[in-house]
Amino acid sequence: MKLMQATRSSAPAKVILFGEHFVVEGQPAIAAAISLRAHVTVEPADTDGILVYSKNLGLLEEYRFAERGAWSGKMLSIAIAAYTAMESLGRKSGVKVTVDSEIPPGSGMGSSAAVAVATTHATFRAFGEEPDLKEVSRIAFEAEKVVHGKPSGIDNTVATYGGVIAYRKGEGFIPLKAELNGVRLVLADSGVPRNTGEMVKRVLELKNTYPSVLEPLYHAAGRLVVEAARRLEEGDYESLGRLMNVNHGFLSAIGVSTLELEKLVYTARRAGALGSKLTGAGGGGFIVALVTAEKEKEVVEALRQLSPRVFSVEISSEGVRKEPL
Ligand code: PMV
Repeated sequence: MKLMQATRSSAPAKVILFGEHFVVEGQPAIAAAISLRAHVTVEPADTDGILVYSKNLGLLEEYRFAERGAWSGKMLSIAIAAYTAMESLGRKSGVKVTVDSEIPPGSGMGSSAAVAVATTHATFRAFGEEPDLKEVSRIAFEAEKVVHGKPSGIDNTVATYGGVIAYRKGEGFIPLKAELNGVRLVLADSGVPRNTGEMVKRVLELKNTYPSVLEPLYHAAGRLVVEAARRLEEGDYESLGRLMNVNHGFLSAIGVSTLELEKLVYTARRAGALGSKLTGAGGGGFIVALVTAEKEKEVVEALRQLSPRVFSVEISSEGVRKEPL
């Protein structure tokens, strides 16, 4: 049996480019891994359980093996990811998991899934095992379930495999051949926290009240995703930007935009973005703008006037990966 050693892995955040909300009712959606990453170190520790330390939160929690049934804590999903990885290996020993993440938590960027994926990957490696990506994604999904109830599976999939994926509920994922060379994604925070469950509920209530009005919109949103997938693979960024604008209009129509999000969306377009839309559940949270390298500075600066957090990122073709210690 191989001795345990300290290891470090990282996994990317995600952004939904097209199809949020409509995906809940069976339409396709597109999500991309981005160049913000969660880093996790797993090392042997003198404890009969799992120590979880977050550098970002300045928080240390201990999850003792003997109390497994009664675990609770802010970082429970991380402990579950490490524990489930150990269970899958059939080995259990005291470890310390240290998290150091560039991904803003609670932003819809899949921070918790990226941490769970990196934790699982690093745990396998710490025990000298080459991680199987399918198993890494599955374990991260299990960890997410404990905390989020009914995750769609998009976040752990993107964090594991990276790149751009098309997704349809009940059907799974297909990778798209999209590089997005020469363009960047600019993300800006509305500064308003969002509540995904609440927004999903509101949208479904609207759809159920006016099905004859909303169903054609859902159909159009699905067609939009098919068109966007084609344009993405062709590298037709002009069309992609225009389709992002149309998608934003659909999201406004179903009531998930806000004045703050609209201001950001229009500010990005006025500063020269190819397109912009709210991303994720809405009601708050972030917008995403597609920008050429030439316009990046202008768009970022214009958004900084309104937004407390602006990130300029690239699509990350790499999913979870080894990192030097
Ligand atoms: O902001 P997020 O990552 O929570 O996005 C939610 C996306 C929805 O389509 C609104 C819900 C879902 O589960 O797909």
